[in-house]
Amino acid sequence: MARSTTTKTPPAMGKTGNKTAEPKTHAAAVSASVAQAAPKSTSSARAEPANAPMNTTPPAPLHTPGPVGDNAAAQIAHALNGVLADAFTLYMKTKNFHWHMSGPHFRDYHLLLDDQATQIFAITDDVAERVRKLGQRTLTSIGAISHNASLTDNDAEFVAPLDMLNELCEDNRKFRDVLGKTHSVADDAGDYATTSATEVWMDEAERRAWFLFETARSLGDTNSPPKLLEARA
Ligand SMILES: [Fe+2]
Repeated sequence: MARSTTTKTPPAMGKTGNKTAEPKTHAAAVSASVAQAAPKSTSSARAEPANAPMNTTPPAPLHTPGPVGDNAAAQIAHALNGVLADAFTLYMKTKNFHWHMSGPHFRDYHLLLDDQATQIFAITDDVAERVRKLGQRTLTSIGAISHNASLTDNDAEFVAPLDMLNELCEDNRKFRDVLGKTHSVADDAGDYATTSATEVWMDEAERRAWFLFETARSLGDTNSPPKLLEARA
């Protein structure tokens, strides 16, 4: 906080009150304020401008005591940061396909993908704050998301509706697997808050994959396995 050097002379207090004598003029008030602000051990230091910030001690290193040991916390945080990067990547792709959906089922698919994007985005803050509760650092930028993500973008100019649904279904299944690996790392360390949270996120990913799978099935011949099922058989 900046220290003011233009403190107004307080009004007279009458017979009672101040233990120290008050400056009688504005110049005297400024002089007294500067003298009070100056470090006693560096009386020869140059005068700071009136609006200079206060000298502050360097900030303490960002270290928060966590519920597990540092090594385990670092491993869990690394896994969680991968989850966070994939969550942002999947959110962006789901929104991308929501925005660029086309065809006779536009309204249904457009709304389905918006619902799923909202659900994916909702977990991002919880994932990041779980990392911080472990005393670790989480992602800081779009670049960090790109560096830590295992899912891939799709910047194609046009993607057919069925391909959109299939690709998102696969991505949600991969995301579920990333969460499963994170669950194992946390379980080994006895970090049950993380295992509990990842179980919920895994269930949500499986639900999204289920909806996408069944929706993609309706686009094809219902008497034969859908494209997605053939691909995974
Ligand atoms: Fe929208």
